[in-house]
Amino acid sequence: MKKHRILGAVAAAGVIALVATGCGRGGTAEPAGSDGAAEPGGQGQIVGVAMPTQQSERWIADGDNVKQQLEDMGYTVDLQYANDDIPTQVSQIENMISSGAEALIIASIDGTTLTDVLQQAGDADIPVIAYDRLINGTENVDYYTTFDNYQVGVQQATSLLTGLGVLDENGEETGETGPFNVELFAGSPDDNNATFFWNGAMDTLQPYMDEGVLEVPSGQTEFEQAAILRWLPATAQARMENLLTVIGDTQLDGVLSPYDGLSIGIISALTSGGYATDALPVITGQDAEVGSVQSIIAGEQYSTIFKDTRLLAEQAVAMVDALMHGEEPEVNDTESYDNGNKIVPSYLLESTIVTIDNYEEVLVESGYYTEDEL
Ligand code: GAL
Repeated sequence: MKKHRILGAVAAAGVIALVATGCGRGGTAEPAGSDGAAEPGGQGQIVGVAMPTQQSERWIADGDNVKQQLEDMGYTVDLQYANDDIPTQVSQIENMISSGAEALIIASIDGTTLTDVLQQAGDADIPVIAYDRLINGTENVDYYTTFDNYQVGVQQATSLLTGLGVLDENGEETGETGPFNVELFAGSPDDNNATFFWNGAMDTLQPYMDEGVLEVPSGQTEFEQAAILRWLPATAQARMENLLTVIGDTQLDGVLSPYDGLSIGIISALTSGGYATDALPVITGQDAEVGSVQSIIAGEQYSTIFKDTRLLAEQAVAMVDALMHGEEPEVNDTESYDNGNKIVPSYLLESTIVTIDNYEEVLVESGYYTEDEL
């Protein structure tokens, strides 16, 4: 690992991180790994936080959580959203570097396009943490925090199988043999996570496809066919409309969708294509965004995967804080995330399948949403 520039004196003894008790998406949970004891904290050092887009609630929640938690620890935060535009993100990061950021937290739009700007960060010994999405093709990414993305895909496929009745609520096979007609969607090909989700899902579904329990009427079972550039709902809607044309009268029983935004587009296409809202196929998702949880409660979307952005923010913040104090951040995976130049030491969090049966416990009782929001 390269030697990091550590500016600023070691925090004075006795400085206690402000550990707010507030909860919810904007709230500050206790820093990761903390038992409430004194934390070193920052001394006004600038941390640049680059987020991809405000078009999706989850990234707004991520940005808010990271900013709040860093500020509570005494850091100054430069939070920027790039409207899913790659040159904008590159210039935002350049600006962060030139205005004195001492650490960067980056959720990339396209994981392969930051090589040059991150060389500038590397040359200035500014540590870089990849947030949620791996940054590829550069030495200059020091740590990565995310959810176990392969496992997210497994969970999406598992919930599809549960919704179809192939698996029971304990994940045991019911003996149901179908055949069930399903169509498959994947995420953005420039997002490293998308292949992890897809591989986790396909490893889970393939045995059932081989046995004929699941059939894909369009025949489109390759990642390249299923991928939706930049995760755009409208693109997913257009592909679903096209699939309905391709498969004609065949009735769909399920749709593997890797993200709530895509599920919204898919549902629109299905309802305009003649499916009643109370007779939609089993549709999965990811992120537990408000509109999609409402859709689950209304019986339209079947499931989503909840990834607690509060915890992800805590990990990123804990990594920055450790680096700013010359310490090694905690990691729990040093094998899975090869970015083409190196294996990036990672901290992976666990995600949770959410359906109508457990949304209250997982999303409301945990304080992530209030009942009123849903
Ligand atoms: C992925 C992320 C998902 C989802 C998707 C679209 O990188 O891991 O949770 O948010 O982007 O934004």
